[in-house]
Amino acid sequence: MIEHIPVLLEEVVRLLEAGETPDYIVDATLGLGGYSERFLREWVSCKVLGIDRDPMALEQAKQRLSGAVCEGRFVGRESNFRQLAEVLDDLGWGRPDAIVFDLGVSNLQISLSERGFSFQEDGPLDMRMGRNGQTASDLLNTLSQEELRRLFRDYGEEPHAGTIAKGIVAYRQYKGPIETTGDLVGVIRGILPAPLQRKMNRHPARRIFQALRIAVNDEIGSLRQGLEQAGETVKQTGCIVAVSYHSLEDRIVKHAFNEWETAGKGRRTPRKAIRPSDDELERNYKSRSAMLRVFRMADSVVLKGR
Ligand SMILES: C[S@@+](CC[C@H](N)C(=O)[O-])C[C@H]1O[C@@H](n2cnc3c(N)ncnc32)[C@H](O)[C@@H]1O
Repeated sequence: MIEHIPVLLEEVVRLLEAGETPDYIVDATLGLGGYSERFLREWVSCKVLGIDRDPMALEQAKQRLSGAVCEGRFVGRESNFRQLAEVLDDLGWGRPDAIVFDLGVSNLQISLSERGFSFQEDGPLDMRMGRNGQTASDLLNTLSQEELRRLFRDYGEEPHAGTIAKGIVAYRQYKGPIETTGDLVGVIRGILPAPLQRKMNRHPARRIFQALRIAVNDEIGSLRQGLEQAGETVKQTGCIVAVSYHSLEDRIVKHAFNEWETAGKGRRTPRKAIRPSDDELERNYKSRSAMLRVFRMADSVVLKGR
């Protein structure tokens, strides 16, 4: 079984603990169930609804959480969290005390080369978290040069978006479609001048892979909708927690929380994003980009004082 070391978990638990003892938490990005398992152990009468759009992750998490620790307090659902309101309605447990998003990909997705998320291993250029929709290869081989440029710039914040888009379209014309992660890495390495690649302090394909993954899974659209529904469905005494892994996601979270604050729905508190401690960074290098934000609804005991 593949391991995923949960990121900022202690901080998430401490933030939830600060409010009323939770009876019902939604883990909107169940992954391999690291967060859910901890919630179930920490609060022994709390129920957890785990949502993931990835059937493989859901299956593994269900197995992990089927033991005595859960005693029927865990339910897993395969869904996109953009359908959060519908899933909650269908389950009929009422309004949750907390809704938690731990965005991005899990180790399960990254480490299986056949899922196509990793630029470090060769596999088909798929990158779909769920079962349906266009693959990364579909996008890469059908979008125009301008569409690719915008995609790489907007979702990857790639400074060489134009050069790479141009090179990909030329490659497609002369050599045919790009179908594997290895092909794509090779094409990018062939496009960017060697001295530039040597100066980069990241893998030259990192941002392009990020951009494609975001587009394939419509991560930005899903996050906007998921947050909106979380704001409408969580208890008035509750909170929404989001861990994001790149500035694009974090901006959306911050923007949504600021809008709610302006509308008097509650408060962003603490004000600043929480980052992993040095200790966590040492234990788990993959946590280095994580940013945690929390929004407390207006009737939260944290805002009212106990
Ligand atoms: C970083 S992992 C979560 C890890 C989890 N907290 C743990 O400790 O095991 C993110 C998970 O969210 C899922 N995910 C991402 N976007 C989603 C969406 N829009 N709807 C549902 N699940 C999503 C991914 O499939 C992935 O399994």
